[in-house]
Parts: sequence; C-alpha cells; structure tokens
Amino acid sequence: MFFLAVVALTVVQRGTISSGAPFQLERQARADTDPAAVDPRQKQGSSSGISSFWKANRPESSPKALVTTATTSEESLLTQDQRPTTWDVTTSNCTPNYNFSGKDWFKSLEGNFKQFLMYRHCRYFPMLMNHPEKCTGHTHLLMVVKSVATQHDRREVIRRTWGKERLVRGKQVKTLFLLGKPSNVAERANHQKLLEFEDYIYGDILQWDFLDTFFNLTLKETHFLKWFDTYCANVRYIFKGDDDVFVSVENILEYLEGTGREKSLFVGDVLFKAKPIRKKENKYYIPQAMYNKTYYPPYAGGGGFVMAGPLARKLHWVSDTLELYPIDDVFLGMCLEVLQVTPVKHNAFKTFGLVKNKSSKLNKEPCFFKGMIVVHKLLPSELVHMWNLVNSDLVCAQKVGIL
Ligand SMILES: *[C@@H]1O[C@H](CO)[C@@H](O)[C@H](O)[C@H]1NC(C)=O
Ligand SMILES: *[C@@H]1O[C@H](CO)[C@@H](O)[C@H](O)[C@H]1NC(C)=O
Ligand SMILES: *[C@@H]1O[C@H](CO)[C@@H](O)[C@H](O)[C@H]1NC(C)=O
Ligand SMILES: *[C@@H]1O[C@H](CO)[C@@H](O)[C@H](O)[C@H]1NC(C)=O
Repeated sequence: MFFLAVVALTVVQRGTISSGAPFQLERQARADTDPAAVDPRQKQGSSSGISSFWKANRPESSPKALVTTATTSEESLLTQDQRPTTWDVTTSNCTPNYNFSGKDWFKSLEGNFKQFLMYRHCRYFPMLMNHPEKCTGHTHLLMVVKSVATQHDRREVIRRTWGKERLVRGKQVKTLFLLGKPSNVAERANHQKLLEFEDYIYGDILQWDFLDTFFNLTLKETHFLKWFDTYCANVRYIFKGDDDVFVSVENILEYLEGTGREKSLFVGDVLFKAKPIRKKENKYYIPQAMYNKTYYPPYAGGGGFVMAGPLARKLHWVSDTLELYPIDDVFLGMCLEVLQVTPVKHNAFKTFGLVKNKSSKLNKEPCFFKGMIVVHKLLPSELVHMWNLVNSDLVCAQKVGIL
C-alpha cells in the first residue's frame, strides 16, 4: 500500500514537472530564441505514468525516413571502415594560417575569432593521457565530462556523486574527464603535474595536446568522437556534459530502457530555431562573418545530453567533413543536420537553467531534482548537498509547496 502511494505520488510529481507550465525556461544563455518559433512540443501537456513520463516530449517519430537515410549512409561509410585501433596522431605541427589576414572582414574580427580562424585547420592533436581500458568489457553507459585542470574540486565531487563507477539497474557505468592543456602559461607546468598525479590516483582523465580555451571546446568534441570511434565499439550509450551539472544516472537508464535501443538516439535540452547571438558583450556572440544564416540547426545544450554509441561513430565521420565552428554544441547540431538526425527534446534535461529567477527556491528543491536527468550549474558543495538529499529517503509526498 505504502509502495503504491509512493509510486502514485512520484507520478504526480513527475507529471507536474514534465508539464513545465509554471516554469519559464531561461533560454537566453546560448541563443536568442525566436519567440514566434518556439518548439510546439514544449507546449505539449504531460501524460501520466512513469514510462510515459520519459517519453513525454519525444516527437511523434524520430522520423522513420530520416533514420533510414542515416542507416544507409552508415552502410556506405562502413564499407570503407579501416578504423585505427589506437590514437594515431603523434605530432602536432600546427602552424597558423595567415591566408585571411589581408581581408577586411578578418581585420574587423575580435582577437579570439582571429585566433580561432588561424588555427581552425589543425584538426587533431596527440594524447597526453589515455585510458582505452574504460571501454573494454561491458561498459553500457560512458559518462564523459568536459573539465579543465583547475577544476579539480568539481571532478572530485563528481567522482563521489553521479560519476561514481558502479552498476546501475544492472548496467555498467564508467566515467571519464576530457581535458586539454592548462591555458594559464605561468602555472601550466604546476597544473600539469597535479593533473598527472590525479590521473595516477583515479585513472579517469583523457588529455589532448591542445589549449583548453573556450573556442577549443569544439576540438574537445571532435577529439572525443574520434577517441570513442577508436576504442569503444561496444559501448551502447554516452552521456556527455559539463563538470558543474547535476545528473541522475538512474533516470538516464530508466529513460533509455524505454527507447528500444534506437541507434540514432540523441536527446537533450534541444533548441529549435535558435538564432546566433549578435550582441558583442555575450559569451556566445558570433559575428556575421562567422555565420550568416538566420537560424542554427536544432542542437542540444552542451551542458548534458545522451547519445547512442553508433550515432557517435557517425558523428565522428561527419565532423571530419565540416569546418570547425567555435561553439561546440552548435557544431554538433551541424553534424546531426548532415546526418539528417533530429535531436529529441526532453524536459528532464535543463541545461539552460531550471527557472528563470535564479534566487527562486525551486532551484533548491530536491523533489524537483529527483525527476530530472540533468540540471545545470551547481557549485561543488551544492551538488553534494543535492545528491545526498535526492538519494536519501526523500518522499516527495505532496506537490511542491512553493509552486
Ligand atoms: C592558404 O592558401 C593557400 C593558397 O590558396 C592554400 O594552398 C593553403 O592550403 C591555404 N592554407 C590553409 C591552412 O588553408
Ligand atoms: C586551440 O589549441 C591550439 C593548440 O594548442 C592553439 O594553437 C589554438 O590557439 C587554440 N585555439 C583557440 C581559439 O584558443
Ligand atoms: C554567407 O556565407 C557563405 C559562406 O561563408 C558565403 O558563401 C555567402 O556568400 C554568404 N552570404 C551572405 C548573404 O553573406
Ligand atoms: C525571485 O524569487 C525570490 C524568492 O522566491 C523572490 O523574492 C523574488 O521576488 C523573485 N524575483 C523575481 C524578479 O521574480
């Protein structure tokens, strides 16, 4: 009886969450969303029941025709499959390309864009730390986390919370951190030493020989995809995200159990018809010279998304055919567009913020987090606290009082 009551209440709670109605999502972080072009799926009501909760915001189909197209291209690509079995990049002779430097449009760009364009042709770098063993055996879900040398406290907390390697719902889950070279020149040698020690203890750091800068996050994406294609033939799913998010591995696996092993699965906090940001003050500002279309292709916020292993391999092949774009998650959206795979939006992924009002108590409400897959931006102490609350005997007995 008690069990039934709890289940029922969970359903209520999840139904409440997935309806999304009272919450204004903060969607300004990465893109100016055209209000007239809000994805209609966002407005759909919730359905009741746990399994339908997880399906709540899937589009009617990940259109069958599109999936078929993708499969066809997989087959044609597979025939030329001569995948290296180890990381095959051992030198980085990355010399700047001055071809644009005389051009007016180039001269008008900000320094970081100039740097990006001068090095955009340098596609792959050697590995400084590698862990192929993470993908041997029966890893079902590989959790990969973008991090930088100085954020060791975040990694520490992730290892103790959602990144802890274990069996969840009978499935093996493993965790890796993705890093480049420390960008602070003065401290680089020290940070590198500390990182090596950390990796000696935990053995969970992949590091490549490129600078860890904002615009090099796309390199992190392409390097991970190549790495995955090289070493992880048997891994079924990947979670990829930031090192300052809350994640529920339980909920990811519960969701995946309901998706029927779809090989083109890509799910997250998807933006449809996001516009490139043209305000110079914004972190995600993109000048017209870098991207001149009105909209980005659909893409999932890089704070946390889930994709199928077979799709990651295809994304690797496709990414090699495109020019790099300075925003990593938009770049991945461009790759998906080429594959004709539409990413699925799910309301349990909140990579652009839970509620608009940052001081709202909702952002601290454990019953809210319990039904989520990813929620962005927690300090390490907040993450531990929330993790403990969500994993205690939390009973979300009534509708959250502050709603
Ligand atoms: C720069 O331009 C030259 C001549 O057009 C071309 O051969 C070269 O590949 C270009 N360099 C890069 C890095 O694209
Ligand atoms: C990316 O990393 C490479 C290799 O370290 C570096 O030369 C380049 O300047 C970096 N690019 C940006 C935009 O920071
Ligand atoms: C937009 O950019 C593309 C590629 O850089 C270029 O070929 C095209 O002429 C540009 N269109 C406009 C309207 O500026
Ligand atoms: C944000 O939430 C706090 C706490 O709930 C409230 O006091 C404040 O008035 C809210 N601010 C806005 C702009 O809604």
